[in-house]
Amino acid sequence: MAYTAKDYSKLIGMAGFSETLLKNHFTLYQGYVTNTNKVLDLLAAMLKEGKTGTPEFAELKRRLGWEFNGMRLHEYYFENLGGKETLDPNAPLAKKLVESFGSIEAWEKDFRAVGGMRGIGWVVLYQDTAGGRLANFWINEHDAGHPAGCQPILVLDVFEHAFMIDYGLKKADYIEAFFKNIGWKAAAARLR
Ligand SMILES: [Fe+2]
Repeated sequence: MAYTAKDYSKLIGMAGFSETLLKNHFTLYQGYVTNTNKVLDLLAAMLKEGKTGTPEFAELKRRLGWEFNGMRLHEYYFENLGGKETLDPNAPLAKKLVESFGSIEAWEKDFRAVGGMRGIGWVVLYQDTAGGRLANFWINEHDAGHPAGCQPILVLDVFEHAFMIDYGLKKADYIEAFFKNIGWKAAAARLR
């Protein structure tokens, strides 16, 4: 069962994100979907042909996490964008943020700071499903550094392609634009 790239064109027109930047980003995402399908097909064929002991099989297996997460993280990211709503302070997510960070302001400060770190990657607000605590994680590559068994709540792409067309090196301005467009309803619905 192949994965299908989702259509996020409704995000075009969002304040602070040019059409060129978004279209490039959608194309990049579609590449991850194509490659996830391709790698899964190749691995299935190798399994059938008895080629699981080969270096090719091992390398493709390593690649799968990168392609799959490249696909899925972009879906989380695009789906937690395009919102006009603010975070309802009485929503369970807001309460959980306060519980985990002391205040929503403290969470936001931490999340922005992680986004401002030198390097390319992802910022993910994760919920530890064993206990419920929320924490912001820096993910350097798609396939490395994710906390096991945790649920992504809010995902921010800080690879250069996510902002350089519009903001050059001003990553903080891009993060500001991200904050103005957070789809809090989508993020809140991810809470377990
Ligand atoms: Fe991206």
